[in-house]
Amino acid sequence: MQSALDPAGEEASQVATLFWVMTIGGLVIWALVVLLSLYASRWKREPISEQAAARLIPWAGGVLPVTVLTALLAYALWLMPSLRPFADPDRAGLRVEVVGSQFWWHVAYRRPDGTSVISANEIRLPVGERVEFSLTSADMIHSFWIPALGGKMDLIPGRTNRLSLLATKAGTYRGQCAEFCGISHAHMAFPAIAMEPADFEAWLAARSRPSEGLGANQAGRGLFERERCGSCHRVDGTQAQSTAGPDLSHVGSRLTIGAGLLENDVEALERFIVHPASLKHGSRMPAYTHLSADELARIAAWLKGLQ
Ligand code: CUA
Repeated sequence: MQSALDPAGEEASQVATLFWVMTIGGLVIWALVVLLSLYASRWKREPISEQAAARLIPWAGGVLPVTVLTALLAYALWLMPSLRPFADPDRAGLRVEVVGSQFWWHVAYRRPDGTSVISANEIRLPVGERVEFSLTSADMIHSFWIPALGGKMDLIPGRTNRLSLLATKAGTYRGQCAEFCGISHAHMAFPAIAMEPADFEAWLAARSRPSEGLGANQAGRGLFERERCGSCHRVDGTQAQSTAGPDLSHVGSRLTIGAGLLENDVEALERFIVHPASLKHGSRMPAYTHLSADELARIAAWLKGLQ
């Protein structure tokens, strides 16, 4: 679900309210203008007197629009402070660091108690807790937007932008890069999952340990190492520790692969590995067409087992 008009977060509610106030205000003014035009063109036979014109022009053409626009501006400015992030970012109990790259998202969760979890292409957050996001980019300008929760905020190379979000309703919402950043901009998406607080804590605790799937499907793990997937990817608890590409720790438990591109199952993993750029143009991951169907299936099964 990706709609700013069906809010599931505090910021999104304010944005939706602002939208409706502006829309209804605009419609009222539009209706008045149409009625006045009809009156002037169809029913008003006599030209108005000079005295009436001298009053009408400053009032209807000056005072009225200035009053209406000032009122709408004041309302928007009054809303804005609540849309700003924490004045003191250290007050945040949960900080989520997001780095945008063509065309995926690096995500790291940090708690003040030292909990640290690295992930990619998926955002999870607890309902009812204000979360601080720090946003930057490794290449182009991207923009982080979860319409149902709030936002959006640009990710700019060499600069860290801040955003805070408070989810009010558990559910899975769609996030999307909202700044054109290259050929696969449309495929730079992610699921954002707002979880009940206890579920979120359990999830975070499980993610701070290496995956339980590391020992299973050892043949797949061997192939992952033979093909040097660790030159770009990281899998917690293994030799693969590169952050050049998306972190694959616990990748099997994510809802999607390829940054919101495909539902996450073994078949989709195989399709992605064999020729990433045919599914996602501009992907920097090389093709693995030299792998046999059996080898592909083993790597995919191992990755899917990283729960
Ligand atoms: Cu990243 Cu558009």
